Order: sequence, then C-alpha cells, then structure tokens
Amino acid sequence: MIERARLLRETARLLQQFPVVALLGARQVGKSTLARAIAGAHRTVTYFDLEHGPDLAKLEEPSLALGDLRGLVVIDEVQRRPELFPTLRVLADRRRARFLLLGSASPELLRQSSESLAGRIAYLDLAGFALDEVGADALDRLWLRGGFPRSFLARSERASFTWRRQLIRTFLERDLPTLGIRVAAGLLERFWKMLAHWHGELWNASELGRSLGLSEATMRNYLDLLANTYAVSVLLPFHENLAKRQVKSPKVYVADSGLLHALLGVRRPEELESHPKLGASWEGFLVQQLVARLGADRDECFFWRTHDGAELDLLIVRGAHRYGFEIKRTDAPRLTPSMRHALNDLRLTRLDVIHAGADTFPIASRVRAIAARRLLLDLKPLPA
Ligand SMILES: Nc1ncnc2c1ncn2[C@@H]1O[C@H](COP(=O)(O)OP(=O)(O)O)[C@@H](O)[C@H]1O
Ligand SMILES: [Mg+2]
Repeated sequence: MIERARLLRETARLLQQFPVVALLGARQVGKSTLARAIAGAHRTVTYFDLEHGPDLAKLEEPSLALGDLRGLVVIDEVQRRPELFPTLRVLADRRRARFLLLGSASPELLRQSSESLAGRIAYLDLAGFALDEVGADALDRLWLRGGFPRSFLARSERASFTWRRQLIRTFLERDLPTLGIRVAAGLLERFWKMLAHWHGELWNASELGRSLGLSEATMRNYLDLLANTYAVSVLLPFHENLAKRQVKSPKVYVADSGLLHALLGVRRPEELESHPKLGASWEGFLVQQLVARLGADRDECFFWRTHDGAELDLLIVRGAHRYGFEIKRTDAPRLTPSMRHALNDLRLTRLDVIHAGADTFPIASRVRAIAARRLLLDLKPLPA
C-alpha cells in the first residue's frame, strides 16, 4: 500500500468544513481505497456502492435509507444516481451525518446535482500517484507508467502497459456508456489517440476535425466528454491587457503520462527517449506534478504564450502572486529572451525552470533552474 497522507489530510479537513465532500477522479485512480482509509478514522460509517445491486436497491427510497444515518456516509460511484442530490441537500442542512461522495464524472457532467448542493459541497480532484507519494527516486518510473496505482505498481513494464491498454478499452466500451454517453467507442478511441499525438499543443478544432472528418462542434463535444471524465486535461491560456497579442486557445494533454504512452504505443524507457513526443510528454508530466506539489487549484493554473513567441508552460496565479514555470528536457537551462519577456510582461514573483539535470542553481534574479529529481527538496507548496 502506498500511503496518500496529503490527500487524507485534505479530505479530512474538507469534511470538517462541509457537510458533503465529493472526491472525483478517473476510474481506478484510487478513490474507493482512499475512502476506506478515511472511513477507518470514523466511528460510525455507512457505505453504499452504487455499482453493487443491493446497495443501489436500498437507495430506491433515498430519504428513508439515508434519513436516520449518523456519522460518515460514503456513497461510491455516485454518478450512477445523480437523482440523489436533492435528498442530500435536505440531509446536508440537517447536519446529522457527513457525506463523502465518490465519482468518476465531473460536476459539469452531473450538472443538476452540483447546482442543488451549491454552498454545501466541496470538490476534491483525485489524480494518480504524485511524486511525494512514491518518492523522488521513482520519478522515471512514474513518468513512464503514469500514476494509476495498478499501472505504477505492476510487476513489469509489460504488465503495466497491458493493464493500461485494458483500462482504455474498459473506459471506452463500458464506463462511458454507463454515463449515458452514446458515441461509437471506435470513433472516440481514434479521437483520443489523435489527442495523444497532439499532447501539449494548442487545441485546434478545425485542423483536428479535418483529419477525422468531424465538425468543429463534434470535436468540442468529444473534448468536453473526455475532459469531464478525467481522460484528458485542458490548460487554459492566461491573457491580460498587454501590447502583445496573446494566444487564446487552450492546450490539451492526455491526463496521465502512462495513458499517453499506452495510446502512443510506447512501452519501454528507450522507446520514450527516442519518441517524437518525448518533450511534450515530459512537459505534461511535470505540469501535473508541479500542480500537485504546489497545491494549486485548477482555476489558478494557466499557460501563457504570445504571438511573437514568448511563452510559459505553466503560470500559477494565487492572490497577488504570479509563479511562472518553464519545463525543459535539457540539463543545463539558461535564461532565454522568452523567459525575460515572461518575467517582465507578467511581473512574475519568480520563474522556475524545471529540467532533467541533477542540480538546482540560480540563473538570474528571481529565476532558478530546478532539477526535476530534486522537485520535492527544492520546491515547497505555495503559501495559502
Ligand atoms: N494507495 C494505494 N496503494 C496501493 N494500491 C492502491 C492504492 N490505491 C488504490 N490501489 C489499487 O488500485 C486499484 C484501484 O483502486 P480503487 O480504489 O478501486 O480505485 P477507484 O475507486 O478510483 O476506481 C485497486 O486494485 C487498489 O487496490
Ligand atoms: Mg471505486
């Protein structure tokens, strides 16, 4: 078992503050396991798993089944019954029990539900293992295999790869249909694979649509669908009133580096090192790890790019501070004109260049080069 101390703490904190907490993330990412660990710290716990027929049947009359419960009530796979939410709203206001909901679809996808619980619910996104959970020595393994526990912990590269391919199949053929999504699995698979080749680039619906013979609106629907089920992630562009024209399309990433590699057919470290998507894969992986390490919320994270070539891979805006990050696959990064523009135009608090070398060193005033394998040592979580 790999301990997920940070997530346990964070969930416990939210449960003190809100009557309903939703832990959301891709299937197989470890939600139920985490919920069991949380439940272990409560005296009275009732667990409903909505993929389990008898539990689902018990909730046919939700106010009857839930009304008298006290302590912690866990409802797993809640996306199967969004109709429960109005009842939860009533129970949340009574404050007799706390509710921990687990699901693999985003609040946007469970639309009516998130609205009915407004002000009473806190959401926590759960991704696969992060570096602080597996340790910095496992950096390369985490990158190649991604953070799904079963993939990361698999016996061999081959077993890990096979597991991920299987996950992709199940997701397309079984999980999406149970969400009521009716798109041919073959078509979505082609779309997802195409996004893997597009990983880390600007979303361009017309260009992507042409190669699949689909309209821009359909492409946008597919993108939203995969983003709302945690299969891909979208990073929004930052722009403000500057003399320079800034890019306004989002960037798209496959949400997990291991899934990216499975979609690209990359099985082994040496295949990754020589793959054309090497740099993009490294960038996407580190963007994800930086966000986890710094404890940034999704709505604090952007990238930035101008039409004349200045760029930042990740910009985190918290309060009055702007933290910039550039990610390089080289091992001796230097200050570039693009970095200087970012520092000055965006008035960055600081700029960190994350690189593949062994050392962390200062590059210029407010600019550091940080070795990826020293990330946990040299980069502290952001002040709240
Ligand atoms: N922290 C962990 N350490 C080791 N294995 C884990 C951990 N979390 C999850 N797993 C394993 O990963 C698989 C998926 O976990 P699960 O909690 O069922 O995911 P989810 O509920 O998100 O679908 C299970 O086989 C589980 O044992
Ligand atoms: Mg589960």
